[in-house]
Amino acid sequence: MNPNLLLTNTHPALRRCWHPVARSTEVRSTEPLRATLLGVPLVLFRSGGRVACFVDRCPHRHAPLSLGTCDGGMLQCAYHGWRFDGTGRCVALPALGEGAAIPSQARLLPVGAVEERSGMVFVAPETPVAPLGKILESEDPEFEAGELPPIRARASAGLLADNFLDMAHFPFVHRGTFGADESAEVEPYEVTRQGWSFIARREHAFANREDPGVAQGIRPLVQSRRLTYRLDAPFHLQLRIDFVEAGGTNVIGFFLQPETDESCRVYTTLWRNDLGGDADAMAVAIKFEVEVLEEDLRVQEAYDQLSLPLDPRAEVHTRADRSTLELRRLLGDLVEAVIES
Ligand code: FES
Ligand SMILES: [Fe+2]
Repeated sequence: MNPNLLLTNTHPALRRCWHPVARSTEVRSTEPLRATLLGVPLVLFRSGGRVACFVDRCPHRHAPLSLGTCDGGMLQCAYHGWRFDGTGRCVALPALGEGAAIPSQARLLPVGAVEERSGMVFVAPETPVAPLGKILESEDPEFEAGELPPIRARASAGLLADNFLDMAHFPFVHRGTFGADESAEVEPYEVTRQGWSFIARREHAFANREDPGVAQGIRPLVQSRRLTYRLDAPFHLQLRIDFVEAGGTNVIGFFLQPETDESCRVYTTLWRNDLGGDADAMAVAIKFEVEVLEEDLRVQEAYDQLSLPLDPRAEVHTRADRSTLELRRLLGDLVEAVIES
């Protein structure tokens, strides 16, 4: 592998991957939405309930279509009023009058694939080499979802994925939230690769201060929790936390949209089966998770080089870094697979 290989946010191999571009609720039939992915502006709108996504450039004079309007499943350009349907075909061209022949090149530039899943819209700019990740709990009625507001950060998607998988930073970066009780030592854990995904499993002791059973004397303060991390290439992440003694499962979904070499949009969603429909408790959980994310971003936004080194020789790794080393291997393999295909 090239020792200088760095995965920037706009690396060409990422065009053959799935990426989030919006929350489902952000894409409407009444107005177009602009999103940026891998340095390319996109326009999204709903047509017949389905999400339509194209390069945000009118075929006529290249005006941004996201300046336009939407109705009846059609997108109308703000400049000369050309109208396009959900397939990207031009269906009306006002300057030529009613019934005029429409040039066949008057079509919007499509993306490779679009899919809605887990309350998000995902796009692959070109035919993807790796499948789109899935969060089983997002389809399980026992779990309720809580969405953090999307955050734009001056950050590398690769480094943010690295940070989500990292198990050794809690007592240092998260001292102000959950890290104070965490032990600095990371006991050995296993990492299992499955195609374009991997799973890291770890079980450890922690102080369960939120468990009412502790105050009631039913359970001890120090309990165990099982952490299951999963990455689906390139930047679709989840952490499932199972509370062994107190019961209940929390899932954190973390989805990264590489916008430009300097910018990422970060989506976090919580799925929990232990809140019993308590909206206030979910609001508290979301607020806490925002604080945790801000602690992470304070470090991530300070990096001068916004890219993930893919050559394992470029950095120093220890056994506590097995999951983040696997991230580099997997994404390195992905870049090679795209180059060879
Ligand atoms: S630039 Fe869009 S209609 Fe002319
Ligand atoms: Fe963190």
